[in-house]
Amino acid sequence: MKVLVTGGLGFIGSHTVVELQAQGYEVVIIDNLSNSTLDVLNGIEKISGKAPLFENLDLRNKSEVQRFFSQYSDIEGVIHFAASKAVGESVENPLLYYENNLSALIYLLQELQKKTEVSFIFSSSCTVYGQAEKMPIMEDAPIQEAFSPYGNTKQIGEEIISDVAKVSGINAVLLRYFNPIGAHETNFLGELPIGVPQNLVPFITQTAMGLRQKLAVFGDDYDTIDGTCVRDYIHVVDLAQAHVLALKRLLSKQQTEKVEVFNVGTGKGSSVLEVIQAFERVSGKQLPYQIVGRREGDITTAYANTDKANDVLGWKALKTLDEALLSAWNWEQKIRSV
Ligand code: UFG
Repeated sequence: MKVLVTGGLGFIGSHTVVELQAQGYEVVIIDNLSNSTLDVLNGIEKISGKAPLFENLDLRNKSEVQRFFSQYSDIEGVIHFAASKAVGESVENPLLYYENNLSALIYLLQELQKKTEVSFIFSSSCTVYGQAEKMPIMEDAPIQEAFSPYGNTKQIGEEIISDVAKVSGINAVLLRYFNPIGAHETNFLGELPIGVPQNLVPFITQTAMGLRQKLAVFGDDYDTIDGTCVRDYIHVVDLAQAHVLALKRLLSKQQTEKVEVFNVGTGKGSSVLEVIQAFERVSGKQLPYQIVGRREGDITTAYANTDKANDVLGWKALKTLDEALLSAWNWEQKIRSV
């Protein structure tokens, strides 16, 4: 069975491709290489022994999207990762985010709604919950006003998919990710942030590597266990496996609604200082860091209630924070050694 993975050379996309291949799916990747490189294709092939089909295509080009689907008319499932994801950049350049994340989605759905039936999985984010009132966060927690244009594209994306699914053969799963980290155990795939990393774990590994002087910890006056923000860090391989299970559910027609929503996290919250301590433990390195002021737009605490994904998808995060941090550290050392 042929499955399209947009953004399949990105961090989460590439890990999902190898999990799909391991389950026997034939994968076609669309990626415009805006935040990835062709080396990732080699990494995928080294792990799976299979080269996925690859189209260097920008989903904002409507006629190219149309051409793609006339060529690959036998696609039965789509996992849509391709999107810009830097919160700060989205505040500075909102139209880039609305164009990139929403027009691409619309062109894709325009082609998919021509099919009698198709399974669609969307990369959403816990950002849709804003600062939720109750922890852990359940899927029915209220959606709150987005903090950034990036977050807004995820909310609007979810709404667009829900509206289109109602009037088409599209069946969808929205996966709301918490904080994906880590790398593949083979060390052939991992995160490749361009420029200065905005996210905590790649900043930590680059600092430990000596590429950054020290980590700035954004605020220690939050109402949490040690004053630093709490997040739910999930190993990217666990997250990738959730996509495969969601796709199987759709393809085997087990879904009970046209659009189903699942949180994908571990269910466990960790503070920034706890992550630093865990990193120091697994790497044996002392991490230089300094507490600085809060970062604008940060929420205090977010961790998932994962009961729905556990019960309905039969999915559970299996890897620990320590394993995820060690894999990220191994990956960082590998990419700096070549
Ligand atoms: N942090 C630091 N120093 C850094 C980077 C991060 O202290 O250099 C802290 C942040 O303040 C936050 C925590 O580490 O408390 C995690 O920050 P990340 O940037 O790694 O992750 P966020 O939770 O802010 O962002 C993630 C995704 C976004 C998504 C958001 C939704 O990266 O795409 O969750 O909540 F929008």
